[in-house]
Amino acid sequence: MKKISISFLIVFLFATANIVAQTGKVYTVKANELKAEIQPTMWGIFFEDINMGADGGIYAELVKNRSFEFTNPLMGWKITRKKFTEGEILVLNRKETNPANPRYIQITTTNAERGSLSLTNEGFRGMGIKKGLRYDFSVMYRIKSPGIKLHIELINNKGENIGEGLLIPAKEGDSWQKQSVSFNASETEPKAKLNIWFEGTGIIDLDMISLFPGDTWKDRPGGFRADMIQMLADMKPGFIRFPGGCIVEGRELTNRYQWKKTIGPIEERQLIMNRWNVEFAHRPTPDYFQTFGLGFFEYFQLAEDIGASPLPILNCGMACQFNTAEAAALSEIDPYVQDALDLIEFANGDATSKWGKIRAEMGHPEPFNLKMMGVGNENWGPQYVERLKIFRKAIKEKYPDFKLVYSSGTDPSGDRFDYLNGELRTLKADFIDEHYYRKPEWFTQNVTRYDNYPRNESKIFAGEYAAQSANTATPDNKNNLQTALAEAAFMTGLERNADVVNMASYAPLFAHVDGWQWTPDLIWVDNLRSFGTPNYYVQQLFSLNKGTNEVSLLANNQKVTGQDGIFGAACIDKKTNELILKFVNTSDKPQDASFVIEGVKKLQSKGTLIVLSGENNDQVNTLDNPNTISPKQQEIILKGKSLRITLKALSFNVIRAKML
Ligand code: AHR
Repeated sequence: MKKISISFLIVFLFATANIVAQTGKVYTVKANELKAEIQPTMWGIFFEDINMGADGGIYAELVKNRSFEFTNPLMGWKITRKKFTEGEILVLNRKETNPANPRYIQITTTNAERGSLSLTNEGFRGMGIKKGLRYDFSVMYRIKSPGIKLHIELINNKGENIGEGLLIPAKEGDSWQKQSVSFNASETEPKAKLNIWFEGTGIIDLDMISLFPGDTWKDRPGGFRADMIQMLADMKPGFIRFPGGCIVEGRELTNRYQWKKTIGPIEERQLIMNRWNVEFAHRPTPDYFQTFGLGFFEYFQLAEDIGASPLPILNCGMACQFNTAEAAALSEIDPYVQDALDLIEFANGDATSKWGKIRAEMGHPEPFNLKMMGVGNENWGPQYVERLKIFRKAIKEKYPDFKLVYSSGTDPSGDRFDYLNGELRTLKADFIDEHYYRKPEWFTQNVTRYDNYPRNESKIFAGEYAAQSANTATPDNKNNLQTALAEAAFMTGLERNADVVNMASYAPLFAHVDGWQWTPDLIWVDNLRSFGTPNYYVQQLFSLNKGTNEVSLLANNQKVTGQDGIFGAACIDKKTNELILKFVNTSDKPQDASFVIEGVKKLQSKGTLIVLSGENNDQVNTLDNPNTISPKQQEIILKGKSLRITLKALSFNVIRAKML
């Protein structure tokens, strides 16, 4: 017996020494030494209507200012007429009877024909039109004097007609009617316009002038841009944080996000100015408003569609502290708290409850299974804690198992953070929301940030983060390979600490190349195309290779946290019986890596290696070259319980191997 052990030991040592000699570095994985459990929610997404993320983005409406409610009621519209006649076009306001949607337009015509009088909408930096696709035009109208026909045309950038329909308003009378006409486009055009010209003699009121493509996500009328949603679905996110972000707070309290104003018929959803309209003097976006066509019902539905848990963030009775710092008096905080309670009922209540009934009437009698909610976004100071306590008491009293996320402010360190961290832990916060918009070096230097966090207290939600290549929120920031690898390195630290960090999301999510305010962003789009940044692929690879339990990974008895620029984490997936290794090489040299896998009987001889890499740190993806930095998959051969690969310079590597 003793003899066998010694000879086994000699063989083993020889084998190990051989590996060391050949490779220089040996990583030992103990696949049976289970560490943190990785939550299904671990890798999620953060959605905010910034950078034309919703209006002009995933909300597929092509008409800008469709209900004439922008501050300038005709912004986005151009009136063309042969000769000026006073009163032909009037913007009327009925705010006493319709405060949510006060304005509409009144057209008066006499013997009108092509060229007499038309209204042209420029879209959101143009309209993306696809050849052969159906377009659905709709309008709300009220005939004051019959006789007007509406000719609907799509116009390309040369002024040519690329699709048309005719709408003859059918119903007379004092009430508003909705009517639609659909037609196909004959040409693809990224910057089309919608032209409506009037024929005949009469008077008509128009509102909610709308055009949607026929290929929305799940073919829902008035729905989402499918290519953009597909990119989210392809990430299989664990949760969706919504609606932000600073949008939650508003510049001042009247400009805050109020979910109750975002549900029900779209013509009754009261538009507000998007706070990003005026936030950055260097990136003004005067035509940025929130129509709430993407409201809370659509948000819950989207989360359900793509298998993500909803994670709404609600206003805590405080507006943005960088802007006005306006706070609701404590004596007037009840409506804010009631909004939170009612949102839970809207999501989960049965159809006999007040808000559950509204959800059911909107087409979703089943609950949305909401389990958590954030109170406040990037709020700080004692006034935040005071308000939080009121929310916490009311919500936990009614829903004891409901989980609450609290903000730790704008920064991951400093006095404000330290104060809140202490207070929130005293309050036994379920989740503390930490944000970091920092240079790439911060991310690599902070890979061990959570190694010494308390294990059995509040969990961490890394609710907003992105490596900033130049400086926080400056327009020079790029979504380059360096930032993506820095985030990947940092995320190995989040994964290693999955017992403390239960959720994480990159921010912001979307940006339109012609309408952004903030960079970097995960996904960039124009009117027809979308592409993932290197950072997108990092998020996607972590999410698709999540695993269920972290396992021990050591090199020279140390965690792999940046020695020679290498960062690593190892987990298993109990459901598929696979070992998953994630390795980031931030150095500019290829590095050999040998892996010795312990604690498994056997590994399948063929495994998979997915590599995200490039030639240099500055590389980016673009609309024209969307795959410069994108994952490449190959088969790898495992020898018994060992594996040797070369980690390319500047690379993120995911290795999967079946445990037998
Ligand atoms: O992600 C962009 C902004 O950054 C968010 O709205 C805000 O929460 C943070 O300051």
